[in-house]
Amino acid sequence: MKKILYAATICMTGILSVPAYAGDEEIAKDMSALFGAGRAVISDNQDKINDGNVGDKGLTGDVVIAAAKEKYKEKAGKDVDANDQYQKAILDAIKEVMTDAQPVINEKGKGFKGFLPAVFAGQVANKASEKLAGKAVIKLTAPKELVRNRKNRPDDWENKAIEETFKKAGYEKGKAFSETTTIDGKNAFRYIQPEYYKQSCLSCHGGPKGEVDISGGKKEGANLDDLGGAISVTIFK
Ligand code: HEC
Repeated sequence: MKKILYAATICMTGILSVPAYAGDEEIAKDMSALFGAGRAVISDNQDKINDGNVGDKGLTGDVVIAAAKEKYKEKAGKDVDANDQYQKAILDAIKEVMTDAQPVINEKGKGFKGFLPAVFAGQVANKASEKLAGKAVIKLTAPKELVRNRKNRPDDWENKAIEETFKKAGYEKGKAFSETTTIDGKNAFRYIQPEYYKQSCLSCHGGPKGEVDISGGKKEGANLDDLGGAISVTIFK
């Protein structure tokens, strides 16, 4: 009721684009930051993960979570709230994904094991969204032409945000876009955070376009700072 009144007040004051309910924006932003922090920890440890000379890497769920919490704090300027159901779902998902990944990443004698940030992120996104059972969904996506894993394809709303907002000339780099909308008739708050390729991404996503990268996929031919993907969060109302 409070939300309806809020929206109605805004409409009456004549502001056409209804701003999101502040609570949802914060939930989505925090989820996105924590998810991104976990993924960055995997990225930081990629050389270690790919080291065939070492067996046990010590990269357990608890280790990844501790490092992700630190990164989150740097970015969000506050501590992770493990009692918050949305953040807890992500932490629990990271723990499960890393526990499941132990035999893969600790295999001695094998270099590249296919365990890379986007693979980790896809698994964490699935598990966290499952735990949130219809309350929220988190996903890693990318501009259509860059998508390697079909599961990460942007849906119509995400595609529109990427093509018409993030790619618009002059759009403020790194700024998230959000909107209150509906999905299959259900009210939903949607939030999408753009991300750009860093130097460390270009060994796989950079040039020359079409060349095969270490994962066996084809390089996109992207440049430093190009829009490479987005974290998308949906909160159902
Ligand atoms: C070791 C090679 C490698 C590196 C380094 C790498 N990626 Fe990827 N990336 C991949 C692969 C392979 C996939 C597809 C993963 C899958 O099958 O789920 C992928 C998927 C993605 C996706 C999801 C969309 C899709 O294509 O399915 C995004 C977004 C992404 N990468 C961004 C980045 C960014 C940003 C960085 C740097 C911080 C980075 N990647 C570093 C190989 C890499």
